[in-house]
Amino acid sequence: MSDAELTATLPHYPFSFRGDVLAPALKQFLVHEPVTRVVTNAGAPAWLVTGYALARDALKDPRLSRSALSDPAMPQEDSGAPPFAVVGTMILLRRAGLRDEAVRGMSPRQQYVPLPRVRGIAEELLVAMAGRGSSGDLVEDFALPWAARVTCELLGLRPAVASEVSTWFGLMATGPLADRLLPTEWPASLSRLETWMDDLAETGLLPRLKQLNEASPHPLLPSEMLELGHMLTFSGLANPAAFLAACGLALARDPGLANRLREQPDLVPRMVEEVYRWAPLLGDSITRIAMEDLVIGGVQVRAGELVMISTDAANHDPAVFAEPERLDIDRDAAPHLRFGQGRHYCPAAALNQLQTEAALHVLLARLPNLRLAAEPPVTWRDHHSVLMPVAVPVHW
Ligand code: HEM
Repeated sequence: MSDAELTATLPHYPFSFRGDVLAPALKQFLVHEPVTRVVTNAGAPAWLVTGYALARDALKDPRLSRSALSDPAMPQEDSGAPPFAVVGTMILLRRAGLRDEAVRGMSPRQQYVPLPRVRGIAEELLVAMAGRGSSGDLVEDFALPWAARVTCELLGLRPAVASEVSTWFGLMATGPLADRLLPTEWPASLSRLETWMDDLAETGLLPRLKQLNEASPHPLLPSEMLELGHMLTFSGLANPAAFLAACGLALARDPGLANRLREQPDLVPRMVEEVYRWAPLLGDSITRIAMEDLVIGGVQVRAGELVMISTDAANHDPAVFAEPERLDIDRDAAPHLRFGQGRHYCPAAALNQLQTEAALHVLLARLPNLRLAAEPPVTWRDHHSVLMPVAVPVHW
């Protein structure tokens, strides 16, 4: 069978852009074929890993490389999307000796945007939303501007650019949307950031890294510093915004749960932890290239093949999480894989958890009668690498 014939017969990944239920195809694969052959947006054949233990082990497996993805000769998940944000971040930071400082700046120890300030930003947004009437949209009025403002303060971008940064969520495009949008929009966003990087705030992770870079024996070039800033801006915006929207949607749909959290605010961390597990967030996958022949879950994978890991599916593995589709803040189960695993584990995981908790405390307090509006129904943005509703219409 030729490559073209083979890929024509394979299921096309991804299967859905909904972030509130796992795609039915992923549920099937999880149970019946936890390592399966699919075809990517770029038309490349790939292995898709869905089972929890297999996904966890694959994320930790040194034979599966992330850096090899930057080789254009390797099979790709997407043709139009730029080499995704996080791929090069740590390589650049390590080379210039800036890794430790950057990791500290993405951890709960950072003080660029302290938690009271994170809460304050949420307060401002929700007070403004409530001031406009008795209905609003938790995406455009809350999750996106909150993530953009928190990220700008963390990174040391001027507050005035936050509203433009929030529109960059649209650049997390995949598939046909990426092919259409990114050839012009990606370089345009880079050149905007270049201007902003010449006028950074006094404090923030980027000014700090810039300052240390000047003294580094292996300094990054200005173009690499720009790339780094770009990657961190997208990382700080996209997942945190989509995740806060997912939490907001879950609470607006379940007033009983919201009331329970109002009465027992110390349960908010459990809620956040469970939404990390429950909410699918990946419009793409976590990708790796096999550097040698290996066997995953009894399936032979050859050197040079693309391996895609669906942590969304893994987090719904019924062998590990009973009734996985149920959002249950009382469950005691294995840790979710939302932030990856092993050497690429997200350095901002603990910080995002605390910041999201802070934002949710404010949401619960400010909108005591939060409800999902019946109209318009919640729909999801197609062809984005991070799953996000178009809007979460609410009233209170
Ligand atoms: C809900 C929020 C977030 C989620 C779900 C998330 C998810 C992830 C995942 C799954 C990885 C591992 C990717 C892989 O294994 O290939 C990762 C890595 C990374 N994330 Fe996050 N992330 C979040 C927030 C952030 C934030 C706020 C930042 C920075 C401001 C950030 C910066 C990074 C960086 C730099 C890496 C690369 C780490 C490495 O290669 O060692 N993330 N993130």
